Amino acid sequence: MSRKVAVIGMGHVGSTVAHYIVANGFADDLVLIDSNEDKVNADALDLKDAMPNLPYHTNIVVNDYSALKDAEVVVSAVGNIKLQDQPQADRFVELPFTRDAVKDVAPKIKASGFSGKLVVISNPVDVITSLYQKLTGLPKNQVIGTGTLLDSARMKRVVADKFNVDPRSVSGYNLGEHGNSQFTAWSTVRVLDQPITKLAAERNIDLPELDKESKLGGWYVFKGKKYTSYGVATAAVRLVNVILSDARTELPVSNFREEYDVYLSYPAIVGRQGIVEQSQLDLTEEELQKLQNSANFIKQKYNESL
Ligand SMILES: NC(=O)c1ccc[n+]([C@@H]2O[C@H](COP(=O)([O-])OP(=O)(O)OC[C@H]3O[C@@H](n4cnc5c(N)ncnc54)[C@H](O)[C@@H]3O)[C@@H](O)[C@H]2O)c1
Repeated sequence: MSRKVAVIGMGHVGSTVAHYIVANGFADDLVLIDSNEDKVNADALDLKDAMPNLPYHTNIVVNDYSALKDAEVVVSAVGNIKLQDQPQADRFVELPFTRDAVKDVAPKIKASGFSGKLVVISNPVDVITSLYQKLTGLPKNQVIGTGTLLDSARMKRVVADKFNVDPRSVSGYNLGEHGNSQFTAWSTVRVLDQPITKLAAERNIDLPELDKESKLGGWYVFKGKKYTSYGVATAAVRLVNVILSDARTELPVSNFREEYDVYLSYPAIVGRQGIVEQSQLDLTEEELQKLQNSANFIKQKYNESL
């Protein structure tokens, strides 16, 4: 069976996802879709120009929704990032735009007969993931938001810098909304093979300060270049690869949790069928309360978006 992936929305993020996939031969077939015909055709040509110097071949199809029918994974990176370029903006300034984009894109995905996994990057990602699930009618376990996979990576960068280790030597999760109500669940974080809470107490490290730093990571990048791309694209492609290879990897992604009745980030096992099992963390009372607050916020915003 060939590995067929589609990217819808070929802006900064979608084109970075596409390049990462093509440069590493992660897919045999790649469908690229964008309402901006000139941009998506230019990107397709540019990617084809990369191929003679790459060790892999990828078949590229442009702006053909019917090609999604037998795709394994569709990635949504539709949006309008310029809307976030204003003082005090948060990810919700994009909601009216992305909500309308989903209303345009989701019926076309559905009409194609697509029955694979939908990976959602578009912001505000937890609300948009819910909308996609509702409008495509795909099973909940097949619609997954990148969620705090990126924020957990930012947390690992901050902790790794503090302890002077590789960020891959830090484990643990940021939970809840990919947005302001998220938080680092310090009870889950380990570094130097110790709980970070123990090390922080011994070394006088201010964990709330590290939490703030990791939360601000996205804004630091955005401030400098007016978009973010490499961190999120790498997270999204990791998720795509986990699905394609049926890896059953535990990832903090936005998935539907019955007890909160909403999509939010909480670690789950991801494989070829999408979310194949949901993890259960031993969170502290304070963390449970933060997660509930984050869930309430996402749910309120989702209900307002309908
Ligand atoms: N979840 C995360 O962690 C995360 C991180 C970074 C960015 N994002 C989000 O990803 C999205 C994309 O970011 P970006 O910087 O690439 O934005 P961008 O504005 O550069 O690109 C968005 C692309 O979507 C296309 N598009 C819009 N509506 C469409 C439609 N109905 N059909 C087809 N194509 C459509 C546009 O033509 C454009 O090329 C944004 O919503 C952004 O906020 C999410």
